Amino acid sequence: MSAQIIDGKVLAAQVKAEVAADVETLKAKGVQPCLAVILVGENPASQTYVKGKEKDCIECGMESRVIRMPADSTQQQVLDQLRVLAADDAVHGILVQLPLPEQIDEQAVIAAIPPEKDVDGFTPVNVGRMMIGEECFLPCTPAGCMRMLDSTGVSVAGKHAVVVGRSNIVGKPAAMLLLSRNATVTICHSKTADLPEVCRSADILVAAVGRAGFITGDMVKEGAVVIDVGINRSPEGKLCGDVDFAAAAEKAGHITPVPGGVGLMTRAMLMVNTVEACRRQTGL
Ligand code: GUN
Repeated sequence: MSAQIIDGKVLAAQVKAEVAADVETLKAKGVQPCLAVILVGENPASQTYVKGKEKDCIECGMESRVIRMPADSTQQQVLDQLRVLAADDAVHGILVQLPLPEQIDEQAVIAAIPPEKDVDGFTPVNVGRMMIGEECFLPCTPAGCMRMLDSTGVSVAGKHAVVVGRSNIVGKPAAMLLLSRNATVTICHSKTADLPEVCRSADILVAAVGRAGFITGDMVKEGAVVIDVGINRSPEGKLCGDVDFAAAAEKAGHITPVPGGVGLMTRAMLMVNTVEACRRQTGL
């Protein structure tokens, strides 16, 4: 194996330590940063994610509120709950855990989050601000990917960055952030012609497909930075990414592992956004 591992555990711990210091400063000024999470239903993955967020808040000295709602909640009930949190000055960040049950229109709920409390960066206002390079909350996973990329010391300007996947949460915003750093960006998806060849031309390869082992070793350019956003289960039940790690690590210059990679950074960036939301709302 030739690639250097980009260690999400170490980087996330650094980021969270910075957040914890910021939280201490705010507390000394009489403010307790607080993240509220709405969890509708009992999706097991969502429950695990929300538990992780609670743990991160506690580690960083922040208050965590979790509002658990039954799976048969109506859209109006979720919107009502959002209105309460929006009006509560003690709540600085609001996150609605996705996916929502099918009777609820996800976009309608996201749009009801006040942009200044939208620590996921999912509201149309924050997405638009990111697109035009204005100050906003960046979505946590792409922001975490950029931190990991920056940790390698590899410069982004002028490089060919290939993003595989075009979701609103990861692929599209990751491409936009890479573009804002002057990469030449290609977004690939299920209809892309000769995907392996496009991937092979990537200096920076971001895999956000949601399929175990989708990116094989022959799709990785020698020396490339490979960022694996996937969180999948192998047929044996093991947690794994979208990249065939062992094969890709033979070729890559730097690579993120799964577990211990992007997932931890996503969580850390949520803490960054929440403390920043608190700072902006309180003017401290
Ligand atoms: N579900 C999976 N990832 C995410 C995320 O980043 N934010 C929210 N709100 N829900 C998710």
